Amino acid sequence: MSDDIKDKIELIAEESITKISKSKNLTELEDLRIFYLGKKGLVTSFLKTMKNLEQSEKINIGKKLNLLKNKLINNIEEKKLHLNDALIQQKLLEEKIDITLENDHEQYGTLHPLSKTIDEISAIFANMGFYIEEGPDIETDYYNFTALNIPLEHPARQEHDTFYLQPNSEGTRKVLRTHTSPVQIRTLEKIDIDQEKEIRVIVPGRTYRSDHDATHSPMFHQCEGLVIGENIDMSHLKGTLIEFLKVYFNSNNLSVRFRPSFFPFTEPSAEVDIGYKKLSDGTLDIGQGDSWLEVLGSGMVHPKVLEGVGIDPSKYQGFAFGMGLERLTMLKYNIPDLRPFYDSDLRWLKHYGFLGINEINLHSGLNGVFS
Ligand code: PHE
Repeated sequence: MSDDIKDKIELIAEESITKISKSKNLTELEDLRIFYLGKKGLVTSFLKTMKNLEQSEKINIGKKLNLLKNKLINNIEEKKLHLNDALIQQKLLEEKIDITLENDHEQYGTLHPLSKTIDEISAIFANMGFYIEEGPDIETDYYNFTALNIPLEHPARQEHDTFYLQPNSEGTRKVLRTHTSPVQIRTLEKIDIDQEKEIRVIVPGRTYRSDHDATHSPMFHQCEGLVIGENIDMSHLKGTLIEFLKVYFNSNNLSVRFRPSFFPFTEPSAEVDIGYKKLSDGTLDIGQGDSWLEVLGSGMVHPKVLEGVGIDPSKYQGFAFGMGLERLTMLKYNIPDLRPFYDSDLRWLKHYGFLGINEINLHSGLNGVFS
């Protein structure tokens, strides 16, 4: 009887050790552990039958069984480590990043056309003695409307045109600025005009209105301009804007039209149009032609606005203008739809983007690029 058991133990030992060493993964290994060492496992059930044996055999066979059990536990642990290691190695191999990918021309990033427009506009106005100001996107009602002489009933104040934030505990609510004009006020508050005598500033930045179609986006960009000094008049406004538009559209004979208009913060006010004609392929030829496109709002700064920031309108005057940068960009580069501007679609960016090298910007200046 005991020899029989001993033989069986030998057999199990041999078989189990080979199986463990040959197991291919952690599940197989776990199955083997349960098969031999689990509650109802082979080795366990042998250990349970021990009580039926005689004392001398008990010791002898018990020893063998315990040895086998410990050996199996050890082998399984060792095999587990080995399999885990292999798993990690395989993962490392699979997740390896090939950093040797060829860096061809296509891989370069490009300058977004809107960034290019901001760079160009900045360089053009810098050339005319302007500097750049910025202001917050989240404005108070005072800067966005009141200080600009915009009355309570003005459409820009309506809920459906403008994004308002939740009111604070005092019941006042901030607004996502609907134009860059509030920065006129912030700039004038900051400077001492008696000391400076004259300021020339532009403000490129983000603006927000509740609009969304092929030519309007709820977030868009404007560039404000403001000149204040002694003896500034409408001819300076016209001269500056005509010069800017000619340079921007790179067209010396660009036709520009000033059309009487109304803004609460300028008086008189003018909208500025440029001439164009539609070509047979549907694209626009900017410069000449009997059609007009509005590109700017402008006017002489309203005396009330100056008084509001403590500037004496009988001593200082000035002009202001504001333009939509998406519109100027679309016109210059013949981009038909505004919506892809903010999709970050690489195909669009590659098509309309600029390499960024040798482009006009504030740092390089106009660089003789415009004729
Ligand atoms: N803020 C005006 C707008 O958004 C544009 C403007 C700016 C007009 C400055 C006149 C002077 O429509």
